[in-house]
Amino acid sequence: MYIRCFCSAIFMLIAVPGSAPAQQSPTPWTMPEVSALPRDARGQLIRDGRDIMLATYAFIGPNVDDPAKRFAGNNLACTNCHLSGGTTKFGLPLFGIYNDFPAYSARTGGPITIEDRINSCMTRSMNGRALPNDAPEMRALVAYVEFLSTGVPKGEQVPGLGAGKMKELSRPADPVRGSTVYARSCAACHKPDGAGVLRDRGAPQLGYMLPPLWGPDSYNDGAGMARLMNFANFVHFNMPHGADYLNPQLTDEQAWDVAAYVLSQKRPHRAGLEKDFPDLLDKPVDAAYGPYADGFSEKQHKYGPFAPILAAIKRLKAAASKKQ
Ligand code: HEC
Ligand code: HEC
Repeated sequence: MYIRCFCSAIFMLIAVPGSAPAQQSPTPWTMPEVSALPRDARGQLIRDGRDIMLATYAFIGPNVDDPAKRFAGNNLACTNCHLSGGTTKFGLPLFGIYNDFPAYSARTGGPITIEDRINSCMTRSMNGRALPNDAPEMRALVAYVEFLSTGVPKGEQVPGLGAGKMKELSRPADPVRGSTVYARSCAACHKPDGAGVLRDRGAPQLGYMLPPLWGPDSYNDGAGMARLMNFANFVHFNMPHGADYLNPQLTDEQAWDVAAYVLSQKRPHRAGLEKDFPDLLDKPVDAAYGPYADGFSEKQHKYGPFAPILAAIKRLKAAASKKQ
């Protein structure tokens, strides 16, 4: 099964309250319903946006007929990571986030719009180029993301955003141990070579049944998913496919180690990464590329342990604020 039905997602949310880890609220989300929209221009735009989320490869993928529409550099779909079209708790949801924008971005060191944020996934997660703000595909994606925030007041932080947060390890995550986890729990779907399974091998514009995790058609090394914390938490709370935050199937250790294994494989390189996060004290500790302000190696930033880095950054921040 490729695209999980929205109704089962809602069932999952109301199932077994109380079994969720204490810090994760099982409060159900009141998700607006795309299919119930009127068939007017706005309703159609939102539907188009959902279609592009679910089948990105078919509209703006690298193999679509019209070369001018080849914006994405891989045949992934947004929904491969933003699960169920951005409606799954801790499955990198896009529910309730629209009013957070414009937002400060540590990555650029300035304010960004929702279009900029989508383009950050276009150039990194989709390994492609930016959509112009006025492109119909961008208008549709923005309309869909805005629609997902229906009824969520500005400033409200809905619980369940992101990919969750499990306990960190006190040792580096270990690619060798992770390879065993991969072979047992991932390879059947994502394949031993990480390349996934296309729907039709002769027609990549029809997308993947099972998306690749590394190799030339995956996200690049500047993507959020290329960072250990995002990957490990996403996998812990969502994989193997069918797991969710109420019923994780991997232990914390297995998730950290399999993340180390997958992220030690080859993927497309994005040029200019050293310019990301101009304020180095705001750079996420798991960004696997320098420069850094803290003196720790790229290797420790990639695999952890992160606690000593966090402590060093805290000291540097305190020192910097004293100077001012
Ligand atoms: C390979 C996985 C992946 C794919 C594919 C992907 N994204 Fe993302 N996206 C992420 C991750 C991870 C984050 C959070 C990154 C972070 O905060 O560091 C994110 C964040 C976002 C955000 C901001 C969410 C927030 O909470 O503020 C938006 C909007 C977004 N993505 C839209 C899209 C759209 C639209 C597409 C398809 C064109 C897409 N993404 C494809 C992984 C992906
Ligand atoms: C039963 C098949 C299955 C298994 C087993 C499975 N996955 Fe997935 N995985 C999927 C599918 C399908 C998606 C796309 C999700 C969607 O579109 O709803 C996905 C998406 C992903 C993604 C985000 C998209 C991308 O291309 O990067 C990551 C990361 C991931 N899986 C990692 C793993 C890891 C690590 C394991 C092993 C612990 C695993 N998966 C086990 C089916 C599976």
